[in-house]
Amino acid sequence: MEVGIVGGGLAGLVAAISLVEKGVDVSIIGPKSKDSNSYLAQAGIAFPLVEGDSIRIHVLDTIRAGKYINDEEVVWNVISKSTEAYSFLVSHGVTFTGNELEGGHSHPRVFTIKSETGKHVIPILEKHARELGVNFVRGFVEEIGIKNGKLAGVFLNGELLKFDAVVVATGGFSGLYRFTAGVKENIGLLIGDLALKGVPLRDMEFVQFHPTGFIGRRTYLITEAVRGAGAKLVTGDGERFVNELETRDVVARAIYLKMLEGKGVFLDARGIEDFKDRFPYVYSVLKKEGIDPGKDLIPVTPVAHYTMGGISVDIFYRTRIRGLYAIGEAASNGFHGANRLASNSLLECVVSGLEVARTILREEPKRGANDAPYNFDELGDVDSIREIMWNHAGIVRDKSSLLEGLKKLEGVEADQRLKVVAKAVLTLALEREESRGSHYRRDFPFMRKEFERPSFFHLNV
Ligand code: SIN
Repeated sequence: MEVGIVGGGLAGLVAAISLVEKGVDVSIIGPKSKDSNSYLAQAGIAFPLVEGDSIRIHVLDTIRAGKYINDEEVVWNVISKSTEAYSFLVSHGVTFTGNELEGGHSHPRVFTIKSETGKHVIPILEKHARELGVNFVRGFVEEIGIKNGKLAGVFLNGELLKFDAVVVATGGFSGLYRFTAGVKENIGLLIGDLALKGVPLRDMEFVQFHPTGFIGRRTYLITEAVRGAGAKLVTGDGERFVNELETRDVVARAIYLKMLEGKGVFLDARGIEDFKDRFPYVYSVLKKEGIDPGKDLIPVTPVAHYTMGGISVDIFYRTRIRGLYAIGEAASNGFHGANRLASNSLLECVVSGLEVARTILREEPKRGANDAPYNFDELGDVDSIREIMWNHAGIVRDKSSLLEGLKKLEGVEADQRLKVVAKAVLTLALEREESRGSHYRRDFPFMRKEFERPSFFHLNV
């Protein structure tokens, strides 16, 4: 059996190692693993393993953060497998240096490697994958080859690479927003490709904004663990206005509203004595920008960070096409609900990578006939889509602004894969006439019982 994994971040590497260890022929197709959002991950991975913590408490925190539309079976499934995920990493050479507290967690359960966790974990796993014989193919997959509902492989530079199973592990689409501290290339190309081929997308309206982005020469993230260590959020005139350890949706919205009042918002981390040692990455970034966190206030602004929505999969990470799977941020099966709990994403990456490997071994799919590529055009005017998403599908939305966004989108000359991703977000945000988690409607500023359910975007093709 030949398996193609599109994307070499944490989820893709875990799936690849698990499969190759069972004798499967595995290729990872994508940019360098270093160019993934997993590599950029700072604080860490949520495991409910410290004394006093439990799977049950972690499940409850996840559902509370997700505002009660998480798929409970999925939540229990993922978090119950956290011990297995932890053991997988440790047995493959990962050593954590401690654990931190982040917003929405009842315990300091975020296992970290000096708050630059991805930078340490990804190279270790990539080295294992190479040593075990995983074939790395560099490049951006343009589309998934599907003909008459059957999977044939993936297209790279117009050529079909044939596989019996394909796992989409590309990450999400926060790069489709004007400001993100994540990888700019994560624009959801394959999510859109699959939507155009009739694969349903789920929960696309839920886009998480990280409260403490820092816009300097580039856009950076100041890990939430800095707030966990005691940093406070204040306005320019010194007012403290939110509990810094509330969930991200609440904190990001509070900052946004202060900014609308024309007030600058700052992180005051001057009380953290061992800042440089505890947060070496953030320290070095700030120093380069002329800010000393021991003396200066740090200007912050929310930035697009994580997309809860994506390719709709079941609890085993299967799409509706036999042999086609999706894991990590590219996938959506209700684990995060309306708002992801901090550091649950890397946990999901490891668990979904392990789980999809078992699913593929059990199902042993066989590839279908060859397909011809669609011949998509150049990507076109991506920046106009980023502008529309930022202005019309941002932290606060309403009917007229969403409709305006949809109208503007029609006029943009850009690749239809990207346009359909943007359309899915705007459409589902318009249909969800309530506020829940990361989706806040100024015209419906409350949760409504009739919307206590996931959303799906499905083109009948
Ligand atoms: C952070 O360290 O604040 C980001 C980690 C995450 O997104 O969970």
